Parts: sequence; structure tokens; C-alpha cells
Amino acid sequence: MSSRLDAEYADPTPLRVRIDTHEHYSEKAHDPTEDVLAALGLSGAEYLADIGCGDARFLADLVSSGHRGRLVGIDTSPTMVAAADVLPGVLGVLADAERIPFDDNTFDTITARHMLYHVDNPRVALDEFRRTTKPGGTVAVVVNHPGNCPRTAELVAAHANTYGIEQTGSFRASVDSDSLPRLMSDVFGAVRIHRSDNALVFDSAEPLVRFAEALFAFYGVPADLPERDAILEDLRADVEDWFAAHPGERWRDPKGYVVAAARVDAG
Ligand SMILES: C[S@@+](CC[C@H](N)C(=O)[O-])C[C@H]1O[C@@H](n2cnc3c(N)ncnc32)[C@H](O)[C@@H]1O
Repeated sequence: MSSRLDAEYADPTPLRVRIDTHEHYSEKAHDPTEDVLAALGLSGAEYLADIGCGDARFLADLVSSGHRGRLVGIDTSPTMVAAADVLPGVLGVLADAERIPFDDNTFDTITARHMLYHVDNPRVALDEFRRTTKPGGTVAVVVNHPGNCPRTAELVAAHANTYGIEQTGSFRASVDSDSLPRLMSDVFGAVRIHRSDNALVFDSAEPLVRFAEALFAFYGVPADLPERDAILEDLRADVEDWFAAHPGERWRDPKGYVVAAARVDAG
């Protein structure tokens, strides 16, 4: 994992801000959890591993909905693993998706939501998902569209560049909604795809600034960078100027994702 990713996921707050922003500022209803659950059709008895579990809200939802099977949260960030581990009946495991520390044919279900694009070699991770899932089990993967939220990404990159921070491409997605279906079918055979096309829409500066700030670490602006406050203030001024110059207009940024689900066959 790159140091920019390490920095991003050392603290769960930026991830939470991004999730909350998608919940509250999407043009159309945004519910990737519901889409994953629809793709899986869980009975509640499955032994399920959530890879790249983040702040473990998916696992927490399963616990509170009465899921009876064993639950595991796997992540490369110790903070995220700890969030999974405190949930009743959930095991948090510090590990990389490319080397899952479980035996062959362990899980009934694997979910990898909004994380495969962080993995150096997604094919290796998919092979691991297949290896550790029982025949007849299900794997569901969610990834974003290519160039998701391009306006906000460009805004953050431009302000980081102003302070001499180069965009190294270390956060370029290794897989997106265009490439995932083929990659999944190479590993699993038949794949079911659910596609969601949407946009973030802001009608005032503050939530956009908050969302942009939650992307900072991806663009070389970690929490401890001395220039961070100055970059944030410049960006805020820029966004406020945009809204002042475009009265009645909304800042619209296209986005979306696919949920790809496959059954693991016996072969
Ligand atoms: C965008 S967050 C998504 C979190 C959660 N799945 C969700 O949808 O809210 C990506 C998560 O994947 C984790 N991650 C990144 N690379 C990983 C890897 N190679 N193996 C396992 N977890 C990884 C990060 O630490 C982070 O918690």
C-alpha cells in the first residue's frame, strides 16, 4: 500500500466524511450497502469476511440486523481493524487483500466494498477471494466509475499543486467499473452486475469544502503537512468565489459504481 493510502486510512474521520457526503449530497438515492445486500441475498447464517472493512459500519449493520454467522473484518489499517474488533461477535484481522490469512474454502461470503482499487494487483486479491470462499459461496465487489467525482478531484489536485505537491499517480485506481466485470469473469465465470450512475450536488460551499478536505491525503496533503491549513483556506476561498459568481447554480460532480457478484463454482 502507498504511503498516501496509509496516511488516508490512519484516521477514520475522512472516510466517514466521504460516506456521509455521499449519503446526504447525492442527486439520486445512494445506498451501496443495500445494493450489496440485494446482490448477496443473505440468509443470516453465512460466515462472512468483509475485506477492506473501513470503519466497520457494514459489519455493524449486519450485527444489528441479527446476522448469526461468524463475521470477520479484514483491513490494512490498524484503526479500521480495531473498529471491527470491538463489535460483538466480529473478529478484526490486520491483513492485505492480496494475502488473506485464512485457509482455502473458509468463507460462505466475501464482500470487498470500495477497496479493490487500492490494491496493487486486484487480480491477486480476486484469486485470494476465490481461494478462501467455499464452493457455492458468493463474492461481491464494489468499485467506482473511472474518474469518479472529477471536478472535486481536480480542485484538490490543483490546490495541492499550487504548494508544489506533485501528483505522483500513486492513487490512480488499479480497477474501476469499466475493467471489473472482465476481471471478475476471468476469475469466477458468470458475474452479475448492478450499475449505479449518480452525481454529488452541492448548493453551498461548506459541504463541498468538507468533502474536498476529506480527499486531501490522496493528493499528498496529510493531516500533519505544515501547508495544510493554508491549502484548505485557499480552496475554501476558491469554492466560495465560485458560488458567489454562480448564484442559483449547483456544483455537480458525476460519480457512480458497480456491484459485481459471482458464485464460486466447485472447479
Ligand atoms: C474507501 S475505504 C472503504 C471502506 C469500506 N469498505 C466502505 O465501503 O465503507 C477502503 C478501505 O480499504 C482498506 N484497504 C486499502 N488497501 C487494502 C488492502 N490491500 N487490503 C485490505 N484493505 C485495504 C483501507 O484501509 C480502507 O479501510
